[in-house]
Amino acid sequence: MITFDRILPITIEVLRTHRDVIARLEWLLVNRDLNGRVRLILPDSAASDTDLEQQLKAVYGELAERIKPHAHSTEAGLLYEASRDGACHGTSAFPLGDIEKVWVIDRLATESRWETIAEVSSGAPRIVFFSIKGGVGRSTALAASAWSLAMQGKRVLVLDLDLESPGLSSALLPPDRQPAYGITDWLVEDLVDNGDALLADMYGTSDLPTSGSIYLVPAHGRAMGEYVSKLGRCWMPKRNHRGAPESWSVRLNRLVEHLESLHRPDVILIDSRAGIDEVAAACVTDLGAHTVLMFAIQGQQTWTGYQALFSYWMQRGVITDIRNRLQLVAGLVPDDERRLEYLTALRGDSYALFEDTYDEVEPGEISHWNFEEDDDVAPHSPLAIRWNRGWYGMMSLQQRMVHVDQTEVTSAFGMLLDFLDRAVGQGRPT
Ligand SMILES: Nc1ncnc2c1ncn2[C@@H]1O[C@H](COP(=O)(O)OP(=O)(O)O)[C@@H](O)[C@H]1O
Ligand SMILES: [Mg+2]
Repeated sequence: MITFDRILPITIEVLRTHRDVIARLEWLLVNRDLNGRVRLILPDSAASDTDLEQQLKAVYGELAERIKPHAHSTEAGLLYEASRDGACHGTSAFPLGDIEKVWVIDRLATESRWETIAEVSSGAPRIVFFSIKGGVGRSTALAASAWSLAMQGKRVLVLDLDLESPGLSSALLPPDRQPAYGITDWLVEDLVDNGDALLADMYGTSDLPTSGSIYLVPAHGRAMGEYVSKLGRCWMPKRNHRGAPESWSVRLNRLVEHLESLHRPDVILIDSRAGIDEVAAACVTDLGAHTVLMFAIQGQQTWTGYQALFSYWMQRGVITDIRNRLQLVAGLVPDDERRLEYLTALRGDSYALFEDTYDEVEPGEISHWNFEEDDDVAPHSPLAIRWNRGWYGMMSLQQRMVHVDQTEVTSAFGMLLDFLDRAVGQGRPT
C-alpha cells in the first residue's frame, strides 16, 4: 500500500530513471499539496517544447501510477510557472535527495512549520523550556531557574506559553498578585488592535525574597473568562493596516518585544507547549531562542518524538541553524541507587539522537561541532534534575518557593542552574 511516507522515496526512484529528461530543465519542483497529492511544477519554457512536454507527461504518468492515491490525473499533474521563486511563494523548498535541480515544496495546513529557524534575538537571551511529553518536571524547573537567577540579582521575565495547559503563574505568584490579563487575552485583543491597552495589567511580580525580580506573564488572567473561546481565536493570523497577513507567531514576537521594552529583563524564560505542536514550534523556532532546553525522561516516546523533529530539521537542511542552541535536560531522575544506571542509559539514547547532528571528522581534522559520547559539556549530555519528594505536587509550589533554600534547590536543579549561569553570562560557543 502506498502511504504518504512512500511519496518521496518513490519520486526519487522515478526521477532517477529519467535523469536525461530532467537534465533538459532549468528546475523542477515536486509540489505536495495540502491533501498530500503530488504535482510537478515546471518552467514555462518546457511547455513550448512539445517533445519535452510529452516526455514529462510520461514521467508524471509513471510517477502517478506508482504513488496512487497521492497523485492527480496526467492532465492535471503538470503545472507551469514563469519562475522557480514565484512557484515557491509562501513556502520554502528543500532538495529532493541528490537529484540536481529538483526541489520539493510542501504545503502544510499549519502555519508554523518548524523549518524556519529565526536568528537568535538580539535582546535578552530567550531560554525556551520544551519537551515532547508533559509531566516531566519542566515548569517546576523553570520556576526554580527563575528563582535562582533572581537570587543573583537578575531581572527575569517569565512567559507561560503553555496556553493549553497553563500552570506556571500559580507556581510563582500568590493569588492576590495574579494580573487581570494574560497572553491569551493579548493575542485575542490584538486582532482588534486592542492588545497594547492590556500590557500594564498582564504581568505579576513575584514576592519571593530575591534581590532581583521576577516578572511573570501568565497564560490567562486572574479570572480565566471565556478561555476556550479565546483559545480558539488566539492562533489567528491578522491582517495589518496594509491588508497583508501577519502570522500569529509574528504577532507573538511583537508581544515579546513589547514586554521586553517594558520590563527590560536580563533574561527571558519561556514555558513552551509540549510535543510536535504548532505553538511549540513558534517557541522553539520562531522566537529567536538563545537556548532550547529539551526535557526528557527515559523512555521510547521521548526519543521517537525528538527523532522525528531532528529528521525533519535535517531533511530541510536547517539543523545547523539550530543545533548549537539545543541542550538536553533529564527531568525527574531517580534519587536512589538506580540513578547512575538511569543516566547512563539516557546519555546513550541522547547521544544516538544528537550524533547525526554533529559534524563528521576525519582523523587530524578540527571539527567545529563534534562531541564524544562521554563529553560532559556536549548538548546531548543530560543536565540531570533529581526527583525529590519535597518538590512533588505543583499545587504547593508557590508556598514551597517561599521557604526554599539554596542548598535544596542546588541539590535538585544544580546542573541546570550552572548551565544557565554560563549560557546567560556568555552565550554558547558556535
Ligand atoms: N524535581 C522534582 N522532584 C519531584 N517531583 C517533581 C520534580 N519536578 C516536578 N515534580 C512534580 O512532577 C509533576 C509534573 O511537574 P511539572 O513541572 O508540572 O511538569 P511539566 O511542566 O513537564 O508538565 C508535578 O506534580 C511536580 O510537582
Ligand atoms: Mg508544565
